[in-house]
Amino acid sequence: MTDETSPGSLSDPSSLSDLNDLSYVESFSPGHGYAPARASGAPGGVRLSLNGTWKFRYCESLRDLTPDFQAADFDDSRFDDITVPSCWQLAGVPGPPRYGAPAYTNVRYPFPVDPPHVPDRNPAGEYRRRFTLPPDWDAGGSALIRFDGVDSCFAVFVNGAAVGHSQGSRLVREFDITQLVRPGDNVIAVRVHQWSAGSYLEDQDTWWLSGIFRGVTLINEPAGAVRDFFVHADYDAGHGTGTGILRIGTDRPAALSVPELGIADAATGTEHRIRDAEPWSDEHPRLYDAVLTSPGGDIRLRVGFRRIEVRDGQIRLNGHVIQFRGVNRHEWHPETGRSLDEATMRADVVLMKRHNINAVRTSHYPPDPRFLDLCDEYGLLVIDECDLETHGFALAGWRDNPSGEPRWRPACLDRIERTVERDKNHPSVIMWSLGNESGTGGNLEQMAAWIRGRDPGRLIHYEGEPDAFYADVYSRMYAGYDELDAIGRRQEPVTANPEHDEHRRGLPMMMCEYGHAMGNGPGGLADYAELFDRHPRLHGGFIWEWIDHGITRLTPAGERYFGYGGDFGESVHDGNFVIDGLVFPDRMPSPGLLEAKAVFSPVRITIDPGAGSITVRNRHHTVSTHGYRFGWTAEDGGTPVAQGDLDIPAVPAGGSVSVGFPEAVTTAPAPAGERWLTVTARLAADTRWAAAGHEVAFGQAQLAQPGQPNGPGLAAPAPATTPGARAARLTLGCAVLDGDTGELRRLGPFAVRSAFPDFWRAPTDNDVRVAGAWRKAGLDRLERRIVAVEHRAGGLRTRLRIAPAGARFGLLATLTWDADGLLSVRVAPDGSWPCPLPKIGLRLVLDAAVEEVSWFGRGPGEAYRDTHHASRVGRFTAPIGELATPYVRPQENGNRMQARSLTLTGAAGQALTVTGDPPFDFAVRRWSPELLTAARHTPDLIPDGRTHLHLDAAHHGIGSASCGPPLPPGHSLAARTVAWTLRFSA
Ligand code: GAL
Repeated sequence: MTDETSPGSLSDPSSLSDLNDLSYVESFSPGHGYAPARASGAPGGVRLSLNGTWKFRYCESLRDLTPDFQAADFDDSRFDDITVPSCWQLAGVPGPPRYGAPAYTNVRYPFPVDPPHVPDRNPAGEYRRRFTLPPDWDAGGSALIRFDGVDSCFAVFVNGAAVGHSQGSRLVREFDITQLVRPGDNVIAVRVHQWSAGSYLEDQDTWWLSGIFRGVTLINEPAGAVRDFFVHADYDAGHGTGTGILRIGTDRPAALSVPELGIADAATGTEHRIRDAEPWSDEHPRLYDAVLTSPGGDIRLRVGFRRIEVRDGQIRLNGHVIQFRGVNRHEWHPETGRSLDEATMRADVVLMKRHNINAVRTSHYPPDPRFLDLCDEYGLLVIDECDLETHGFALAGWRDNPSGEPRWRPACLDRIERTVERDKNHPSVIMWSLGNESGTGGNLEQMAAWIRGRDPGRLIHYEGEPDAFYADVYSRMYAGYDELDAIGRRQEPVTANPEHDEHRRGLPMMMCEYGHAMGNGPGGLADYAELFDRHPRLHGGFIWEWIDHGITRLTPAGERYFGYGGDFGESVHDGNFVIDGLVFPDRMPSPGLLEAKAVFSPVRITIDPGAGSITVRNRHHTVSTHGYRFGWTAEDGGTPVAQGDLDIPAVPAGGSVSVGFPEAVTTAPAPAGERWLTVTARLAADTRWAAAGHEVAFGQAQLAQPGQPNGPGLAAPAPATTPGARAARLTLGCAVLDGDTGELRRLGPFAVRSAFPDFWRAPTDNDVRVAGAWRKAGLDRLERRIVAVEHRAGGLRTRLRIAPAGARFGLLATLTWDADGLLSVRVAPDGSWPCPLPKIGLRLVLDAAVEEVSWFGRGPGEAYRDTHHASRVGRFTAPIGELATPYVRPQENGNRMQARSLTLTGAAGQALTVTGDPPFDFAVRRWSPELLTAARHTPDLIPDGRTHLHLDAAHHGIGSASCGPPLPPGHSLAARTVAWTLRFSA
């Protein structure tokens, strides 16, 4: 019974201090006067939300505090109004912030590292609110006030009396105020400090924001109420039918009922073995409603049976080996910062489920508790991370790192205790994480030991100790492909301590962060997936990260856009490194999320045109494919010609099944052009997170090979060699050229300003490791020289040399037009290039705005050589505005891959069609690459009235080098000879 509840508070044992003595702000102590940590959702009784409007005064420093602001009769009519919960720096946003300003740093502390001291310029918020006890308030019971999150340190007063103080921003804290509340009107006053000693433990890579940012609740617990409970709902998969093993511990006697399992009024603490209980998993989140009854009232809870363990060197859930197809989630909203409402949390969970994400790491702190309810309900595996990061100490070689300093031990233990106690009853939580990037040290070791004593039923995660000495899994961030491959084979380099080395080598491995989704990207997810699938030791990972932490701002004209670090006058900041999510700040999915969805798909569909077979591989760990409906579509040249359902027998988890092509496909008459077969897996029935018909996965293959419409690719067709007549203007098909310079002047209905080979792209964030070399080589300032313009019978050939100032290396290009307007482009390096090229293409500037673009090729979305898994070959149409991806910091975007044909239509309906052989990549933009390169925010992209058309043969890959490994050689674009042909017709 009592052994099941919190082992007790770590509260400062000295007597309640005078909170007018402000030394608690710079104290190593986690707080004072608080109630012991316990499970969220615990007690019954009356709950009164104190969310809403509070009186508020922003103070610039401790010297600016209002004397006696906490007094019950203090006149607060001159105070401002503020919403609780909220982050005070975001009051006024998207207009100018009213109180201070948000500040973003990644590793660096935004104040001198001088623990536990903080600068004198330490703003505080004085909050006051009146409340009235409701008529049904039980005066014989206890009164508690609960704060779900206050950043970074606060002191509480009720009716003028000091209650206590606390640090630990994203952790719940309760205070017992039974002796202080009185019938009728009461006043609560809370003083919140922006900086405190606790800030040294909260150096997470995100915005620094302050205030009461999560809910505040007044709780009335009748005498005899269960204060805390611990659900142990184990699942023994055994052989054949599994067994649920349920035991619920409570701090006071109570009776347990689980009607569905036939448990009625059983004494808590007793073990129940249930032979036919269905286990909980991310794939089938089965929950049983239960109720704990005590003289103090009922507690309603939901029980999920599941076992998480490491067995035979692998992570298993209910006996099945699992793979994390996960994301790291910070709490973020572009207008409210870290204060999220339930609709936003639900939106995150639904979006994750719809994109085949099965796991979340709550980087880098426990989330709002309601998020975990949703994870239980919808099925997401959770690594619940403690609110601890001391990364800034790394900049001084980890000297005085709090993780190893005994003075910080109570604070570290308090943080893990509050994490575990609050969230211990969530089946979705399968691992506790000690924190993030906090180096190594005895405090971490103690935290792990505390967990082992308290909750041996879950695994422990910590990435910062290279040998995973305190942990149950070997976790890494951003390991490169070769290293991961070696780890997969358990052949990673030997480390110094043989005992630790052996411990680590025996562990399963996961990537707590990989696939850095900053700006355009992440690329290379499929390469990671291939390694995760290849090596049983590897258990997948968590993409960094879920959401761009952009803050909504307004241009002087009132246009909305998203700001990032440095936009709020910060003296030190890390720019747009905070914009690295799979969804934009407004939660619009980015192409990176669609790529993740495709790579994470829980069924893999492969089509073998030679064998005439379709194979479905079930990548679920638990469920069969019975929940999916399979369908096929055959398209000739992008036009659907036949479709139907595909009868695939239910494939068990981990299994695969092959079936032959549907008869209608094998008997259909041969097409004139390309025939593609697409097979989809869709939800057969509605789920909590998507309606029946939602596509979960697709596979595609080309069935018929087309003729060669444009003639050979690499060997450019040479016009007849007899010199032709020289004319000022030359019309070749729909192309009009300048006979002297060979320059293109018109293509059908569109006047052409320029048309030249092009090698530059506006560097993406993930180009960071190579963009310097590109600029150094001069790829952003290439010069052209027309070497020759050769008139040939019926055609024209222009030879160019393109090279940067000061360099011996360059590129030779040949543009050969034939009489029908067929353009053959050949590009070859001249000399040796010191770096890969951003791309090899042709750039045309049309003197007119194009309205609509349609194409046959890969689509509908943006794709690059290592980010194309969500795209499929088909026929697509889009207004030009929709071809651009609005990355928060503008950069290369919007490429469409492998187009066979492309039609641009102007406002008057005038159209130009381009067909390519081999298929080409294209981008159509309303601004130049130069503007895209220079732009800092989306409003900088002002259309210039022209159309910038890029018809490209090859691109450098995307990768995720903004934090991850360099682009693997296979995705890199070395300077090389490339030839392609383009036919223009109007
Ligand atoms: C990791 C860190 C994250 C984030 C990421 C880069 O090192 O754990 O918090 O900073 O890099 O975006």
